Amino acid sequence: MTRNVLRPAFWRGLSGKVLVLTMLFVLAGEVLIFLPSIASFRLNWMENRLGLAEVAVMAAAASPGGEVPPEAARVLLNGTGAYAVTLTRNGLPQLKLNIPSPPLHEAVFDLRHQGAFMAVSDALSVMVSAPRTIAVGGTPLHLKGSYVEVVLHETMLKQDMLRHAGNVLIYSLMLSLTVAGLMFIALNRVFVRPVRHLTREMLRFAQNPENPASTIRQSGRLDEVGVAERELAAMQADLQSLLQQKSHLAALGLAVSKISHDLRNMLATAQIISGRLSDVDDPTVQKFAPKLIASLDRAIDFCAATLRFGKASEAPPRRERFDLRPLVEEALETAKLEAAAGMTLVNAVEPGVEIDADREALMRILINLARNAVAALAAMPQAQSLAKISISGWRGHQGVTIEIADTGPGFSQRAREHLFEPFQGSGRAGGTGLGLVIARELVEAHGGGIELVASGPAGTVFRLSIPDRSLS
Ligand SMILES: Nc1ncnc2c1ncn2[C@@H]1O[C@H](COP(=O)(O)OP(=O)(O)OP(=O)(O)O)[C@@H](O)[C@H]1O
Ligand SMILES: [Mg+2]
Repeated sequence: MTRNVLRPAFWRGLSGKVLVLTMLFVLAGEVLIFLPSIASFRLNWMENRLGLAEVAVMAAAASPGGEVPPEAARVLLNGTGAYAVTLTRNGLPQLKLNIPSPPLHEAVFDLRHQGAFMAVSDALSVMVSAPRTIAVGGTPLHLKGSYVEVVLHETMLKQDMLRHAGNVLIYSLMLSLTVAGLMFIALNRVFVRPVRHLTREMLRFAQNPENPASTIRQSGRLDEVGVAERELAAMQADLQSLLQQKSHLAALGLAVSKISHDLRNMLATAQIISGRLSDVDDPTVQKFAPKLIASLDRAIDFCAATLRFGKASEAPPRRERFDLRPLVEEALETAKLEAAAGMTLVNAVEPGVEIDADREALMRILINLARNAVAALAAMPQAQSLAKISISGWRGHQGVTIEIADTGPGFSQRAREHLFEPFQGSGRAGGTGLGLVIARELVEAHGGGIELVASGPAGTVFRLSIPDRSLS
């Protein structure tokens, strides 16, 4: 049985995400490199033109008389790709080469004052806008103290820049694919594969958690994955010992249930026989027979309660809507059988309150709580006339709330500490400590809850809520 959790779709899996993210990051890095790269390409290109212009100017200066014939000027300018070249010193024109009627320039770029950001934005604008006629000026390399200016058209610059940008783009793509590929392989090895191994091992354990051989096979790594593996191994070992303990307890519980069952039958026989003893006239027998019968009664009750609790789970409640008041009346009647004379048992449920519950289960809950109250009141030294048990109930928005209140002494310290714990909480002779546990199980099977609202010298109040079916 292999579930499909091991391999999610490639793009949803860690591998796919790693691949895409790496490519994006490398491309983002490439953009950061690309912008300064085209800016410096443009500046270099223009400096190059200035250098050529300088050579042309120097050649022209060498001509006799400083006068450059138009034919010679055309040849010299051809070499620089410019319309005109001007050499200035201290603001005064020294030499000028130009084709006949050169076009006017639309923008001037002085290479002596080029900021980094301006260079980037100028370079971008060359690439996206229509080419213009521009003038580029700067300090010549050899003619110190002078200023040389070239008037040229941007077409060639734009073409060269686009070619350069294309090369950078291809290079970036190749770089990002290579880096992404390498990162992919590396991360797959150090991260994705170990995580898959962990998942596989978890599944293997889940399929057979009780088998010691299904605990994780550790890779012995020293990194975080290794720590996770070790922690998982420790957790699996704990879980296994817990499971083992539970299955021992379950076996023990079964054995106890069987013993209780047979013991109850034997006790029932003993009870019938001891019932006959009451017919014997002997005063000693008359004195002890009722006590014997009472102890047998309690023993039988104990066995029956243990048997009930030993059942793996209660059957799901068979719910129906019915009038709560008569059921409370019935529960109080039963509890009254054990109540001492003088105790008052009050049914304070509002008439007409309907509850959505399993009759039998609710009866058991109420009898358990009412019997507890009776037992608590019976243990009070005070006048029994003050002893009172009252059950009230009302309907709220989502269901019914029931309160069982008594004027008893409240919970003992021990009973309070072990509230709702099986076999632990009993604070009275003959009690098994299962009543409240069973009551809570039954209430929770209805989707409701039970709580001890108050307990002290003034008495004890339990509140339970039973939500209606559609809302539970
Ligand atoms: N109304 C109450 N007033 C005071 N103490 C109570 C009250 N209800 C329960 N207790 C305490 O809580 C303990 C646990 O109650 P629980 O019903 O679980 O077990 P039990 O009554 O001892 O035995 P059984 O399983 O026969 O009901 C009781 O022994 C008692 O000490
Ligand atoms: Mg009880």
